[in-house]
Amino acid sequence: MLILGIESSCDETAAAVVRDGREILSSVISSQIELHKPFGGVVPELASREHLEKIEPIVDEALEQAKVSLKAIDAIAVTQGPGLIGSLLIGVCYAKALAFGLDIPFVGVNHIEGHVYSVAFENPAVEYPALALIVSGGHTNIFFIPEEGKYKVVSRTRDDAAGEAFDKVAKMLGLEYPGGPVVEKLAKEGDASKIKFPVAKISDGRPDFSFSGLKTAVSRYIRENEIRPVGENENPSPEIKDLCAGFQATVIKSLVGTMEKLALDLNPKTLIVAGGVACNTALRDAAQKTAEKLNLPVYFPSKHLSTDNAAMIAAAGHSHLMRGEQSDLRMTADVTMRLQNFENEDADLRRKKVRYRL
Ligand code: KG4
Ligand code: ZN
Repeated sequence: MLILGIESSCDETAAAVVRDGREILSSVISSQIELHKPFGGVVPELASREHLEKIEPIVDEALEQAKVSLKAIDAIAVTQGPGLIGSLLIGVCYAKALAFGLDIPFVGVNHIEGHVYSVAFENPAVEYPALALIVSGGHTNIFFIPEEGKYKVVSRTRDDAAGEAFDKVAKMLGLEYPGGPVVEKLAKEGDASKIKFPVAKISDGRPDFSFSGLKTAVSRYIRENEIRPVGENENPSPEIKDLCAGFQATVIKSLVGTMEKLALDLNPKTLIVAGGVACNTALRDAAQKTAEKLNLPVYFPSKHLSTDNAAMIAAAGHSHLMRGEQSDLRMTADVTMRLQNFENEDADLRRKKVRYRL
């Protein structure tokens, strides 16, 4: 089954052709990073205008690279939400029009579920139950996935997403957007033991994340130690490198520590770590070590599939279509779309003797 995937939820216009949910024939991504860089973050109005211009040439290029014609496509999968409304609408309307014109099925996919399916390529098949840490610029969640297509949020961020914290700390230090890759590069050259930050504790004891306190602690450190932001053509000081290393180490400790706790509790067969922040090598190394300690396999997407792309949307769409689920023309973009369809089944989990006490 050939699926055309379309992704336009934030600042990447992407299209991909995927065979049977596991083989990428093409994956084309037009990034808007340069467009938004001067503003230090995504400007929604600029993003949707750019999607509108790019969607058609990007889909054409994906078909061309896959060496297939539109007629060969069996179905279309498109990101339905969450994301920016203006951006989402471009992809959704385009996908609906194309599916209507071609008279083929189409399905709206949750962007976060797309990230879960980014491990469908270049990894063995996921064994369920699985535990997935999805960590990006907009989201930081851990999902318990008892079986394919069922999701329960078992950890969420109470404030900022981890990627957002990387971006904000980079901005404070005068580093470029997006912050993750730059902070990681400087952290490699720094010493994480020199400037330490505590991992936030959630007062009600739930295994949730909080990164806004860490961001404030970094900002206070910068102020109290009179650290100047890095100027253009200036080399970052050793202190800035140590600061990046200390900040990154705390984020990773929080992410991987929580995943470990939940894995001990929920007994998954597979761990998944995906989303833009999963590009971070130090995070991958820490997750790998924890997985070895737990004697579990951990799957990561390759780096070009960690950030937003349409191949992961096609893979998630394939799973829906195989279960006979598809959308109709009334489907529309859903900015606050949730990925939780396993809310009231705790009793089921207990019956299955899954250790579970959240
Ligand atoms: O998944 P993604 O492309 O977009 C969202 O759905 O949000 O993730 C982008 C986020 C940005 O916040 C970026 O700073 C972060 O992923 N990121 C990283 C790294 N590469 C990208 N964070 C830490 N280390 C990296 N190497
Ligand atoms: Zn994403």
